[in-house]
Amino acid sequence: MESAIERVLISADEIEAHVSEVGKKISKKFAGKDPIFVGVLKGCFIFMADLMRHVNIDCSMDFMAVSSYKGTTSTGAVKINKDLNEDIEGRHVILVEDILDSGVTLHYLMNYLQVRNPASISIVTLMDKPARRKAPVYADWSCFEIPDAFVVGYGLDYNERYRNLPYIGVLKPEIYT
Ligand code: IMP
Ligand code: MG
Repeated sequence: MESAIERVLISADEIEAHVSEVGKKISKKFAGKDPIFVGVLKGCFIFMADLMRHVNIDCSMDFMAVSSYKGTTSTGAVKINKDLNEDIEGRHVILVEDILDSGVTLHYLMNYLQVRNPASISIVTLMDKPARRKAPVYADWSCFEIPDAFVVGYGLDYNERYRNLPYIGVLKPEIYT
């Protein structure tokens, strides 16, 4: 598996340090507000599990599953594969994403959830690739700003592989070309 990785972009130690810092900041901002964290599956699963262990306030969690990506290029179309189980009316929603790329997925999700009248919607992302943004979406918290490279690991995949790497790595271009 690791032979497919060109280089380590973010080590497991760096991830841990930044994720814990962001968890503390979110805890401060939402203390007493009982937010609901909404993980965007599948990419969020490792990030959210680690993040939540640094959130020390009352809160709840739910998950959505969306797909917008085939291989390394977005199809531009977003499909909801699993909707929320919880009612978000009047709640402070915090969307938890693995990576903010074109922004198409989160732009769609924010509009999709807004009509249910949450008290607020904010975004926490593990990584942000601002150079690739197409839709007007901004992360309230981003653990890492990264250059325009296709990355895998720590939950992120290429065709469902490499999610179990404990760090973020740049995939060798020959894997997807
Ligand atoms: P967006 O809609 O273009 O912002 O894409 C968001 C989704 O695309 C993310 O949640 C990821 O699932 C996927 N994605 C974008 N960039 C990468 C990458 O570098 N590696 C793996 N998945 C990515
Ligand atoms: Mg994703």
